[in-house]
Amino acid sequence: MCGIVGYVGSRAALDVAVDGLARLEYRGYDSAGIAVLSGGKLELEKRAGKLANLRSALDERPRPSDGIGIGHTRWATHGPPTDGNAHPHTDCARSLAVIHNGIIENFATLRRDLEDRGHAFASDTDTEVTAHLLEEHYARTGDLAAAMRAVCRLLEGAFTLVAIHTGEPELVVAARRNSPLVVGRGIGENFLASDVAAFIAYTRDAIELGQDQVVELRADSVRVTDYDGAPAPVREYHVDWDASAAEKGGYDYFMLKEIVEQPRAVADTLLGRAGLDGTLTLDEMRLSPEDLRDVTKIVIIACGTSYHAGLIAKYAIEHWCRIPCEVEVASEFRYRDPILDPTTLVIAISQSGESMDTLMAVRYAREQRSRVLAICNVNGSTIPREADGVLYTHAGPEVGVAATKTFLTQLVACYLIGLYLAQVRGYKYGDEINAVIAQLAAMPDKVERVLDTVEPVRELARSLADAHCVLFLGRHVGYPVALEGALKLKELAYMHAEAFAAGELKHGPIALIEQDLPVVVVVPSREGRSVLHDKIVSNIQEIRARGARTIVIAEEGDDTVAPFADTLISIPRVPTLLQPVVASVPLQVFACELALAKGNDVDQPRNLAKSVTVE
Ligand code: F6R
Repeated sequence: MCGIVGYVGSRAALDVAVDGLARLEYRGYDSAGIAVLSGGKLELEKRAGKLANLRSALDERPRPSDGIGIGHTRWATHGPPTDGNAHPHTDCARSLAVIHNGIIENFATLRRDLEDRGHAFASDTDTEVTAHLLEEHYARTGDLAAAMRAVCRLLEGAFTLVAIHTGEPELVVAARRNSPLVVGRGIGENFLASDVAAFIAYTRDAIELGQDQVVELRADSVRVTDYDGAPAPVREYHVDWDASAAEKGGYDYFMLKEIVEQPRAVADTLLGRAGLDGTLTLDEMRLSPEDLRDVTKIVIIACGTSYHAGLIAKYAIEHWCRIPCEVEVASEFRYRDPILDPTTLVIAISQSGESMDTLMAVRYAREQRSRVLAICNVNGSTIPREADGVLYTHAGPEVGVAATKTFLTQLVACYLIGLYLAQVRGYKYGDEINAVIAQLAAMPDKVERVLDTVEPVRELARSLADAHCVLFLGRHVGYPVALEGALKLKELAYMHAEAFAAGELKHGPIALIEQDLPVVVVVPSREGRSVLHDKIVSNIQEIRARGARTIVIAEEGDDTVAPFADTLISIPRVPTLLQPVVASVPLQVFACELALAKGNDVDQPRNLAKSVTVE
């Protein structure tokens, strides 16, 4: 949430900042702003709405810029998305500019005290207190980094702050607590951003910043300290993807590109980890077989789509490993006094590695001395850094706000962990597990086949653009797939969509069925679970008898459902527990196409941001 860019070097900072914001706009698009130094003076421009509004303002009134500047794209928390609430914020003397990602929880008290001391506020934001506090501390020391350290000690909550000051025109200072910030190292220039995507076109060398650190960025140096000024350790790393991976590559929307990239993303997540002979190589996870043998319970914590991946993982892990597995939305987890101990393995699933709810749940679990294993897509992000172990998904950068390829790769990572646990602990279904490991290798091709055959799904979606509601039903692993299908439709098409376990239908939701209501049914594979399959076929008949329009997703060759399906979407036959990998794809396409038919921006759905860094 909120994208942040900082630059110091010999380029025009304004261009670098706006370019960086364009790559970070998925983090928030309520407003955008920049501040640069020009001839030693502070130049500032900010506009409500998308980055295009800021660009137009800059076109109308072009600014020269020195090689130092900051930029921000906002997801509003405190104060509506107006020009005045857009970042950067300044002090009374307009000598400094500051941008912020996060929430300063004690801002009301700080603001009252500052107003009592004569500071006049120009916005409703929590951020503006930091500009006035920096002003006061800078006036005492003439040292922006020292002022930042002092201010951070006063703040409660989560923040990344980045500031520039006319008194130190070669310096960008930033600080972080709980919100993301990464340094990009160039030659004679350096960058700061919430995400490497902002500077990937200039450098692929990055530095991870730790918790409660302040960085002083000059063109030729990067100095990192803690809030007391003591030098702090950092980790340098090389980003293994390039700028083209974060571009649309000829597609109108990132989401369309990311859906198509799924076979490759699944293959990359499997690469070097699962062998056709049933071997699994997950040494990178940083958890030893001994650590995993002791586990008596697994708790999966995650939000949104990642939570749905966790729900699917539960079916697989309990079946393969016979370890009790709970799945919980991260925002509820730590507030209900959950039972954890050192033999509990907590698996935190987060694409971004920055979701505040998940991060706080991870910290809580570690305080209870449980081991935490992260499944994450963004290298070096906070959750994997704080976890005991990590299995990265190798989906590449996902820019569309709705998760697609990262969801499929999370599923693959969950399967790998479940299968590995089963192997390490000695398993009941040995032959099945070896077979599943081998079958994982075929998943990229199966996903490709789904993509090759989704044109009718697009047509169907366009025909339903005026529907007021769509229901989704599933059983077994098809139930979380249904939940994910409904979530995609809500967030992209702004349409009422709800998912139910098909068995629950008669306990209430069936009252919603009316003539022509579209109902999507995810039919489980017939493999080994024919009872389940037969039951859902009955459910389809029940809703059809009440006038629903049935859209049935079933495996190829499943003739039993065809007579009851108004629309039949066939997916390749795969083992039941792996079916979500193929069954989710038509639902992504369905939601995306329906949203496009309604004229929505599928990359930047209203009110959302990709990385939710506030609780
Ligand atoms: C939905 C979506 C969100 C995220 C959720 C968790 O398409 O993308 O529901 O899944 O905000 O984000 P991460 O996985 O980054 O923790």
